[in-house]
Amino acid sequence: MLRIDAPLETDRLLLRPFRHDDVDALHDLRTRADVLRYLYWPPATIAQTRHVVEQRLNMNTLSRENDSLVLAVEQRATGRMIGEVDLRWLSVEHRQGEVGAILHPEAQGRGLATEAVSALLDLAFDRLGLHRVTAQTNAHNAASIRALHRLGMRREAHLRQCVHFAGAWHDELLFAILAEEWASRAPAGG
Ligand SMILES: CC(C)(COP(=O)(O)OP(=O)(O)OC[C@H]1O[C@@H](n2cnc3c(N)ncnc32)[C@H](O)[C@@H]1OP(=O)(O)O)[C@@H](O)C(=O)NCCC(=O)NCCS
Repeated sequence: MLRIDAPLETDRLLLRPFRHDDVDALHDLRTRADVLRYLYWPPATIAQTRHVVEQRLNMNTLSRENDSLVLAVEQRATGRMIGEVDLRWLSVEHRQGEVGAILHPEAQGRGLATEAVSALLDLAFDRLGLHRVTAQTNAHNAASIRALHRLGMRREAHLRQCVHFAGAWHDELLFAILAEEWASRAPAGG
């Protein structure tokens, strides 16, 4: 069981539970072609985004298998909500989880996704006690692949045509990291 009430702080970010006033920022993310390109979601309507925010308000707790923790990513310097990160509890028995991240294009290319997901991996291994955390990404999502390598995640599999979206088949790559690998990683920035 893990519940996040107070924001998690990193050097430049707050990872905090969603609020009602995140609708506009989330809607911007969920309607931009450059964000959605590899996510297999059609652009959201405003009603759909409002519904997602309603759901996110209660997604600050992991209490059972398949629960997802979804936190808004806020820039400390500006207070701007620039994205979201998520941690799904894939298996209680086998202590497995999966992470993901979405950042606004204006906030990309500064190491902020790596910073946010690092905090999530600390949470996954140190507070939830997971043994292995995975991440999956479209095989053409170069920025995501670079970020996963930067986090020290290992590419374990190339899943051929595992997603059918918008009339086409898509390949995904599966990355993973073990608790012991995360604990013994090289210091960030190297
Ligand atoms: C995937 C995604 C979150 C990665 O974001 P990102 O900002 O590129 O990732 P990082 O935080 O690792 O930033 C690394 C980049 O910042 C640069 N950078 C600048 N300052 C830095 C710093 N202080 N520390 C680290 N990196 C820094 C790095 O050189 C690197 O640039 P490069 O990728 O051109 O080599 C982002 O592309 C995204 O939101 N995409 C749309 C949604 C999506 O597809 N999500 C993934 C679904 S699986």
